[in-house]
Amino acid sequence: MKIKKSSPDVVMMGLGYIGLPTAALIAKSGKYVHGVDINQNVVDTINSGKVHIVEPELDAAVAFAVNEGNLVADTKPVNARTYIIVVPTPFKDKNEPDTSFVEAATVAILPLLEEGDLYIIESTSPVGTTEKMTGLIYSKRPELKNKLYVAYCPERVLPGNVMHELVHNDRVIGGIDNASTQKALSFYQQFVKGELHKTNARTAEMCKLVENSSRDVQIAFANELSLICDKADINVWELINLTNKHPRVNILQPGCGVGGHCIAVDPYFIVADYPMESKIIGTAREINNYKSFWCAEKIKNTKLEFQLKHGRKPRIALMGLAFKPNIDDLRESPAKYIVQKVLQDSNDEEYFIVEPNIASHNVFKLTDYNVAAEQADIVVFLVGHKQFFELELDKGKVVLDFCGIVRQ
Ligand SMILES: NC(=O)c1ccc[n+]([C@@H]2O[C@H](COP(=O)([O-])OP(=O)(O)OC[C@H]3O[C@@H](n4cnc5c(N)ncnc54)[C@H](O)[C@@H]3O)[C@@H](O)[C@H]2O)c1
Repeated sequence: MKIKKSSPDVVMMGLGYIGLPTAALIAKSGKYVHGVDINQNVVDTINSGKVHIVEPELDAAVAFAVNEGNLVADTKPVNARTYIIVVPTPFKDKNEPDTSFVEAATVAILPLLEEGDLYIIESTSPVGTTEKMTGLIYSKRPELKNKLYVAYCPERVLPGNVMHELVHNDRVIGGIDNASTQKALSFYQQFVKGELHKTNARTAEMCKLVENSSRDVQIAFANELSLICDKADINVWELINLTNKHPRVNILQPGCGVGGHCIAVDPYFIVADYPMESKIIGTAREINNYKSFWCAEKIKNTKLEFQLKHGRKPRIALMGLAFKPNIDDLRESPAKYIVQKVLQDSNDEEYFIVEPNIASHNVFKLTDYNVAAEQADIVVFLVGHKQFFELELDKGKVVLDFCGIVRQ
């Protein structure tokens, strides 16, 4: 590894799914990045030129940056000219946003800030967070008042394609004043090829929340249709396919709920702050959560019907645990929630739990998808993994298809 003698250009606070790829990309542009994470294992892994998360092309980018001496990880920040905050923003008990990580990261760099420095928040944040952090900084360092550049720049990459999208996606950049917006824009111009759109901090914050809320609302519409169609004895997949033949209609596909750490989380940041005004956004969250509960109930009832009809307990295959197709990420996964609920209500039936994208799980005993589909009496499709589309199921099986595997 080459040793850098100069001080870093950029301090990246948080080296997770977003912070590490961004740090590697900035380092690739020739800048010296000092990455900070409170997790010592993360720091050690990165300093050895390796990665702790699965993301195509990230391992090579990090190995190169570390080897060139352009990326160093540490548990503490040091002086730089640009500070980027990319730490988690989960929600608390009552679905309220938890910005304590952003605050802690900001407090950690407070003593290092100097006149003319650029401070950027990339973490998905409730509206007003950038202004709040600016207030915090100036309350502790009043001599810097109006002498820093402060901006919010949300991240909108798709896991699995992060290294490409970081460079090519358009970005929204919102400063607390015009000079801050311009300064942040000049910074991103150095490594982003997508268009950079200028706005203010509050609009940029809301933009990120609205992007994910929009997806959530549209999925809720499809999920609501699936509930209506179930009662009306209509095949929802056929219905949506036909409806989408209209030149100006584009309905999304229903599923067993909405998961992940973005779409199932970010709408709450709007609902928590604007409860009276965000009726559709709040209801969409309820519909998507209810859909998972409904699926679990449907499995329970199908199980009882089978037992009544055949005089024995059924064997049940639960196909998929991830929060969306073809990934290994189980965070906030509705499929995992359904499996847990079904197992809680179990009456000693035999279950085959399937997730082809992971080798093993610390709670669930996993079964190969071919074996599960062959041996089960009831096959429940929870996630539309590509492997499931290849299965040929015997006619006698009961199939509960919550994600459109078996299209007529
Ligand atoms: N992952 C995505 O696909 C995605 C997409 C868009 C936006 N976001 C947003 O980006 C932000 C980061 O998400 P992520 O997926 O990278 O999270 P992550 O959990 O993968 O990584 C965050 C990292 O920050 C570290 N950390 C926590 N507190 C810290 C502190 N005070 N100082 C330094 N490091 C600290 C954690 O140890 C962790 O390694 C979140 O606000 C998220 O909503 C994520």
